[in-house]
Formats: sequence, C-alpha cells, structure tokens
Amino acid sequence: MVRRAAEWKNGSVESHAGTKVWREYNAAQADRPVRPLCLDAMALAGPGQGRQAVDLGCGAGKETLAMLAAGWRVHAVDSLPGTRNRLRAIAPADADGRLSIEVRTFQDLRALPPSDLIFAGYSLPFIHPDRFGRFWAGVLGALGSRGVLAVNLFGDRDSWADIPEWNFHTEAQARQLFAELELHKFEVYDADGQSFRGPKHWHIYDVIARKP
Ligand SMILES: C[S@@+](CC[C@H](N)C(=O)[O-])C[C@H]1O[C@@H](n2cnc3c(N)ncnc32)[C@H](O)[C@@H]1O
Repeated sequence: MVRRAAEWKNGSVESHAGTKVWREYNAAQADRPVRPLCLDAMALAGPGQGRQAVDLGCGAGKETLAMLAAGWRVHAVDSLPGTRNRLRAIAPADADGRLSIEVRTFQDLRALPPSDLIFAGYSLPFIHPDRFGRFWAGVLGALGSRGVLAVNLFGDRDSWADIPEWNFHTEAQARQLFAELELHKFEVYDADGQSFRGPKHWHIYDVIARKP
C-alpha cells in the first residue's frame, strides 16, 4: 500500500486521457524511482545485450532510460505530443541508435517490433475497451519466444471503473489475457487510498508473464 501511494503521489489521472493531464502527470515523475514492476521484468528477461524492448506509454521516460542502461534497444511509444523531444533530451549519448520513439495512440499503432521485453506502466487502462482486444493481440504477437511482458491493468472494483473510455477487467478476465503465457507474477492491489482529488478505491493488477 505504501509503495502504491508513493507511485501515484505525484500525479493524478482522474480525468480523461487529455494531453494536459498526462503532461502534468509526467512532469511530476522525474524524481521517482524506476517502477519495481519494470525492474522485476528486466531481472527475469536478463541483460539486454542489444535485444529489443518496448515501453508502452513511456511517459517521463524513466523506464525507457532504465532499459537503455541495461543494454536494451528500446522502442518508446506514447501519444503525448513532445514525447520525442523530451526523450531525446534525457537519453544518454551512447543510446543513440538504440532508442526509437513513436508518438501515436495505442489504438493507432500498426505493428510493434518483435520484442523480448514489453513493459506498460499504468498506461494500458487508457485504451477504449472496444479497441483493447485488437491492441492486446498485437502485443502478444510482437512478443518473441521467452519474451517477458509486464503490465499494470485496472480491475473492475476501481473507483474509475465507470469511465466508459477506459478498460477495466475482472480478475478472471485479466488472468485470461495471459492464458497462453507463463505467469510469473499476478499481484492484486485492492484497497482504499488517496489520489490528488481525495480518496478513491484502487484495484490494480501487476502482472509479469513470459511467452513459452
Ligand atoms: C499514467 S501515465 C504512465 C507513464 C509511465 N509509464 C509511468 O509508469 O509513469 C500514462 C501514459 O500513457 C500515455 N497514454 C495514455 N493513453 C494513451 C493511449 N491511448 N495511447 C498512447 N499513450 C497513451 C500518456 O500520455 C501517459 O504518458
């Protein structure tokens, strides 16, 4: 609970996925540590050694930078205008050639590069439910054999679950999304907490899975 509060204390997504909301959210992320879910996924996947990773909804770029530092080639995706310049400004010089950036909504992505590591930190819930299935199939299709997938999804008991533009899953539905993968972590966070605008109920699944 403490970790979750710390992860969200600097930002709010209590409004639809507008540019202003994400700009403010990402601007407040600079000083937080790399998401533990990303670190766990990288540990499972092993050293990057020039292999391909994807950061879906890269935001401030903290996890993109961590993957670059671990030797991954990273494709960073985010719909937020300015993402390209922001990431280029913070990427280390020796990452040149290992960082590609796509400024596009998940719904409009054509294809992801074949990847050995795909991370999506608190970003996939913000796809319209009607578009989620096709997008998810693309994610699974891009994941190579023994590839590692790490995502946060929102559960049906989350306070925001009545927002029709975002997707929420029952635990059974969420587990089913990983049916063809080896499940390494499926943690449920289901508790009252705080966000910028006051109390809310958080219902989040932290998942790490691997393609057989
Ligand atoms: C809550 S932030 C998370 C950012 C970062 N991954 C993290 O863990 O801090 C969600 C990010 O996803 C992006 N995003 C939201 N909806 C999106 C969509 N439909 N397509 C692409 N990016 C989206 C936002 O611009 C924002 O940067």
